Amino acid sequence: MTPRDEANAVPGPAELSAAATRLAGKVRRTPTLALAAGDLCSVPVTLKLETLQHTGSFKARGALNAVLTAPVGTSSITAASGGNHGAAVAWAAAQAELPAHVFVPASVPAAKAALIVAYGATLHRVEGFYADALAASLTHAEQHSAHHVDAYDAEAVVAGQSTLGQELVEQIEPGRPVLVSCGGGGLFAGVSLALEGRNPVVAVEPATAPSLARALDAGQVVDVEVGGVAVDSLGARRAGGIAVDVARRLRSTTLLVSDDAIQQAQRRLWSTLRLAVEPGGATALAAAMTGPSSSDHPVVVLSGANVPAAPRLGPDR
Ligand SMILES: Cc1ncc(COP(=O)(O)O)c(C=O)c1O
Repeated sequence: MTPRDEANAVPGPAELSAAATRLAGKVRRTPTLALAAGDLCSVPVTLKLETLQHTGSFKARGALNAVLTAPVGTSSITAASGGNHGAAVAWAAAQAELPAHVFVPASVPAAKAALIVAYGATLHRVEGFYADALAASLTHAEQHSAHHVDAYDAEAVVAGQSTLGQELVEQIEPGRPVLVSCGGGGLFAGVSLALEGRNPVVAVEPATAPSLARALDAGQVVDVEVGGVAVDSLGARRAGGIAVDVARRLRSTTLLVSDDAIQQAQRRLWSTLRLAVEPGGATALAAAMTGPSSSDHPVVVLSGANVPAAPRLGPDR
């Protein structure tokens, strides 16, 4: 694996525990909902409703931990994002009374762009993909001595995301598989570290954006083509080095799901529970509804709610 500096080291137990203390009372301890066989899946399933988190996604956890641990003297924050991380950084910077600049691909969904602005950040639209927005954020950080908060491959961000897993320790039985959606892998890495030795964590990616699966096949991070219905949230062209290290060490499983299965999961959440969940937020459920792990009484993290409006109410198939 590539050597890494302090900022993108895999967080250890001390960092995970410090993040939990730091974020206590500042992020929401989101509830779980146990559902009977036949409600959403053919087997009983427990949902972790991270859709109820500040800013509408788990990203608030990592963003706030990163902002609160920024170097002393930090006077502004920058980030690149497909939308949810940007909204979370805008919110976190506002909590710390710091100005924030968020760089997004021009294709950002309007609802997410509006959230970023509503939380008080300056929005910069960049032609191209997430990688182009990332380059612009890093340049801005260098030119303006701002602190760049990475979306997934940073120790403080992964430690922040781990607090979701630390809550699960008190909410679910040991041994049950936990399914999380995966873009760059910050959520997967954080939850895996929190549940290490207690619950296996499965990374679920759209088949149209398989960055972690391809990295594990290749034995190193590689660039992949990305697209599909969840591209704004799970469309990282490269998995994070932290996620790849964690997945290799824990011998984690990854699953790929189709865009059709993701949309079916969204429809089912709406028709059964009246939950509006964005494609990236419903991707782990798509695996539980279709995949082999559905036999193991899975726990599914619903990671984000930021759709423009509730999905149309139609019969699910
Ligand atoms: C709703 C949602 N779920 C999951 C993810 C994946 O997070 P990560 O990049 O940490 O894998 C994202 C990333 O933006 C997201 O917005």
